[in-house]
Amino acid sequence: MKNFIEIKNIIKPFNEKIEISGDKSISIRCVLLASQAIGKSKIYNLLESEDVISALATIKKLGIKFKKIKNCYEIYGLGINGYKTKKNITINAGNSGTLARLILGLLINSNNQIKLIGDKSLSKRDFSRVTNPLKLFGANITSKDSYLPVKISGSEFLRPINYYEKLGSAQCKSSVMLAAIKTPGKTKLKAKKSRNHTEILFKYLKIPIKITKNKYYDFIEVNGPSNFKGFEYNVPGDISSSAFFLVLTLLSDNSKIILKNININNSRTGIIKILNKMNARISLSNKRNYKGEKIADIIVKSRSNLKGINCPSSLNSSAIDEFLLIFLVAAKAKGVSTFKNLSELNKKESPRLELATNLLSQIGVKISRDLDNIKIFGNPKLKLKGNYIIKNFMKDHRIFMMSSIAALSFGGKWKIRDSDSINTSFPNFLKTLKKLGAKIN
Ligand code: S3P
Repeated sequence: MKNFIEIKNIIKPFNEKIEISGDKSISIRCVLLASQAIGKSKIYNLLESEDVISALATIKKLGIKFKKIKNCYEIYGLGINGYKTKKNITINAGNSGTLARLILGLLINSNNQIKLIGDKSLSKRDFSRVTNPLKLFGANITSKDSYLPVKISGSEFLRPINYYEKLGSAQCKSSVMLAAIKTPGKTKLKAKKSRNHTEILFKYLKIPIKITKNKYYDFIEVNGPSNFKGFEYNVPGDISSSAFFLVLTLLSDNSKIILKNININNSRTGIIKILNKMNARISLSNKRNYKGEKIADIIVKSRSNLKGINCPSSLNSSAIDEFLLIFLVAAKAKGVSTFKNLSELNKKESPRLELATNLLSQIGVKISRDLDNIKIFGNPKLKLKGNYIIKNFMKDHRIFMMSSIAALSFGGKWKIRDSDSINTSFPNFLKTLKKLGAKIN
């Protein structure tokens, strides 16, 4: 089977209203929380991507039943002590850092040892960022130099912890918060700002949580043990998947797009703030609140007078999965753009800062990198004519999709390998592009 695409033409002007599939972070959290609730949960519009399917396979291995009825997953949780684990089971988190790191938090009271594995990319990612705090709760965890496979045996004698999460990692923060709901007493967390879907879900589920905030940190207290009831949830559209279409529209001629029902949680909308500082004029309409999350329709039009940005690092965390796309906009903006302190970008499904720098250089964009900082020298007249083969990017879904957007916006003849990588987060990506008129072989 062919596992690459070819793009040979810039996309023609389009004017469309589209829906984007469910948010990946919220989908995984809903599956995991529903598996620990008491009774039935109903999750609508769950993202059906490989990462979320790995989450469903994981809870099934842990003895939790679920079924799909039309657009709804019914998950039958058995409470915070409800996982039934056989001896020597292995959980495979596939490509998903979020699943792997969050499930470890939920396994700190497991009665048997569980082995956690993942694919090649996940096996290169650091797990000490979660195993260190989880060991403090009293769980027994071993790993090979901080990497997968990780083996975890829970403890009956858990103790609450005080932890300082310095990386701005929502996965790390959430793992600790999930462990805290199983642990008697008050777990206290000082966390550098990161996406806060877990906090919002805890509040909605009435799990005892107290949050105080300052500019850089959130102080979170969770009281356990805390059971909670099954719930209903309709997952909003994913802003990280929407971002590909935001940028495509911005960089194309005479085009407009409306993206409906997208999660616009402040901890995720760095891309909109950054692009608007670059003159993008992205607007939001039909704003509403859904169970603590903000949702809106996003409206974007093509812009020809984009300008460079000196990007404030305070926006890094809320745009962390979108920087590849922001770099494309910087490549076509007037002037120099600078982005700083992006070390976390190299800790993703691939070393993204490194690979994006190589990719942009490969297509002739002037870029300089100094450790975790980069400068992109924009060119508003950017038009490509060469042949480009994109390969060896560790099957990173976001690099594949970034390359497709570059091809459709800048021109040239592109062959992009590993098209099945989109199944990780956005199986409908190519279908949606074709709906806008993109010619993709
Ligand atoms: C995620 C958190 C982020 C993000 C990832 C999803 C989450 O990772 O990059 O795609 O759902 O919590 P970190 O927590 O490592 O920053």
